[in-house]
Amino acid sequence: MTFDPASRSKLTTHDLGRFTGDTMFDRLARAVCEAECLPRKELYEAWEVARRVRRRIRGRRVLDLAGGHGLLAHALLLLDDTSPTAVVVDRLVPPSAAILSERLEVTWPRLRGRVAYQAGDLGAVPVTPDDLVVSCHACGALSDAVLTRAIESHAAVAVLPCCHDDEASVAGGLTGWLTTPMAIDVMRAMRLQGAGYTIWTQTIPAAITPQNRLLIGVLEEMARRIWRSPRRQLFSHARDGR
Ligand SMILES: C[S@@+](CC[C@H](N)C(=O)[O-])C[C@H]1O[C@@H](n2cnc3c(N)ncnc32)[C@H](O)[C@@H]1O
Repeated sequence: MTFDPASRSKLTTHDLGRFTGDTMFDRLARAVCEAECLPRKELYEAWEVARRVRRRIRGRRVLDLAGGHGLLAHALLLLDDTSPTAVVVDRLVPPSAAILSERLEVTWPRLRGRVAYQAGDLGAVPVTPDDLVVSCHACGALSDAVLTRAIESHAAVAVLPCCHDDEASVAGGLTGWLTTPMAIDVMRAMRLQGAGYTIWTQTIPAAITPQNRLLIGVLEEMARRIWRSPRRQLFSHARDGR
């Protein structure tokens, strides 16, 4: 029998024998099994996103928006200890999030006290230019809201969008050539680039999720200076017809 990484069934202590290695992933998976609260696919999604993000973006406080159990926030700190802290923001933080966090802290005591959960709307949390805003499967236009939070604060950002909705998100007239989800994600990438971001478009394995497009963006120091310069402001005023 194959072990399907896309399964929504919960990982439990029955699955411990599947993760017996010494790798960080196996240790993470064992902690998740012991917490007995997370669907299998969320383990693989969070890990694959975290690995790719950390190849591009180091350090920074992590803001895991619409973060659910917050496994992505924990994985990002594990992969880069120069990130001091993380905040997981969700309208409804699952009660089992605390159990998961505790299991991870038992495995890695260095995580203790560094990941906080905040119940509330992702629009309400303050974001700074030094933050790394991440969001895994923020449904529909929620991914656009995450990008807005990052762009307005000049923060680094990584999103793995899902549940595309062409009434709530912008498909940019591209649906004659591209599927609606692809068109929406292309427009998201262009939006980030248009805001002065350097972007990376990647995928995580489709065997984990068909909603596997990962968009990463960083507003480079240079781009940030250009954005704030009087010349750029003149240009943007002219472009906006102001
Ligand atoms: C599909 S789940 C993704 C959870 C987690 N990121 C993951 O990958 O497993 C979407 C999450 O968004 C949260 N959510 C929905 N609207 C929100 C909002 N306006 N602000 C913050 N969180 C929100 C939901 O409570 C839910 O936990």
